[in-house]
Amino acid sequence: MHDKVKKIGILTSGGDAPGMNAAIRAITRTAVHYGVRVYGIRRGFEGLFHADMTEFNPKSVSDTIHRGGTILLTARCAEMMNPEGVDKAAGFCRALKFDAIITIGGDGTARGALALSERGVSVFSIPATIDLDMPCTDYTIGFDTAVNTCMDAINKIRDTSSSHERVSVVEVMGRGAGHIALWCGMAGGAEEVLIPESAENMTAYDTVIEMIVENRSKGKKHNLILVAEGIAGGAQTLADMIQKSTGIESRASILGYLQRGGVPTALDRMHAAMFGLTAVERFLAGEANKMIIFKNGKYDTMNITDAVNATAQYDNKLYKAIKMLAV
Ligand code: F6P
Repeated sequence: MHDKVKKIGILTSGGDAPGMNAAIRAITRTAVHYGVRVYGIRRGFEGLFHADMTEFNPKSVSDTIHRGGTILLTARCAEMMNPEGVDKAAGFCRALKFDAIITIGGDGTARGALALSERGVSVFSIPATIDLDMPCTDYTIGFDTAVNTCMDAINKIRDTSSSHERVSVVEVMGRGAGHIALWCGMAGGAEEVLIPESAENMTAYDTVIEMIVENRSKGKKHNLILVAEGIAGGAQTLADMIQKSTGIESRASILGYLQRGGVPTALDRMHAAMFGLTAVERFLAGEANKMIIFKNGKYDTMNITDAVNATAQYDNKLYKAIKMLAV
């Protein structure tokens, strides 16, 4: 499969996601299994600039599979935003004699990897972000854990909301994407989900208010509205408007960073393990400059340029289904 000992570096970059440690573990143990030396680089691309890294062995990743966050630490590296910085980082990769760098993170991380590949560094990138906003793949590490964490919070909010007969407006993360909001909207039985992707679904605030009034007139005692963080004004503005115009007590809950932490679910650990293993095996099979993806039920690779440039085709089926079931 390979003739001489090779050396790879792993880094996690951008927002952390539950399951990143399971990916680091899988890369490390697969690499060692095949006789490849593996280095954990700290604080994302930052670590390249300072040669801040440690050689890993199978024991280095013991007792990490169930831990949220990333044992390698993460950062958003400003130097990778300019061409001179990327030149430097590529120079460090060469000086450190890495045969490949495996990055774990979201679209910003993949862009960093692509920039390194354009300067001759072999890269693989593993999709990891709670936002699920990478169109090249059907899954990104962390999404399932984040949705389940949100659901736990929403179930609790529902208890108090129904006891007080209030309107609850819950804001979830997702940057420019509404996947967490849609999944929580469906699984939490929300009456409305406000997401940034589609003008059609950007239900105006007064339409939401009319819907609440109508549902109350039909006997509904409490209401749950999901708002993705990309929506202007966010949950607090909407809750204030609802209370002001209907007189119904309304409360905003912004779930915030708790969504990014926690014990990764089995699904996240499974994908993380398979992404990590696939990255190392594809490297040893001679591939380079690839995004590791999960598409149509299979683990595969995609050219990193195509992966970074893939665009999302918004499909409003899930939104329509939520609306139908909310009646
Ligand atoms: O990409 C994950 C994410 O958690 C987004 O949902 C959110 O907008 C962003 O990261 C927050 O990033 P930061 O950690 O820089 O505040």
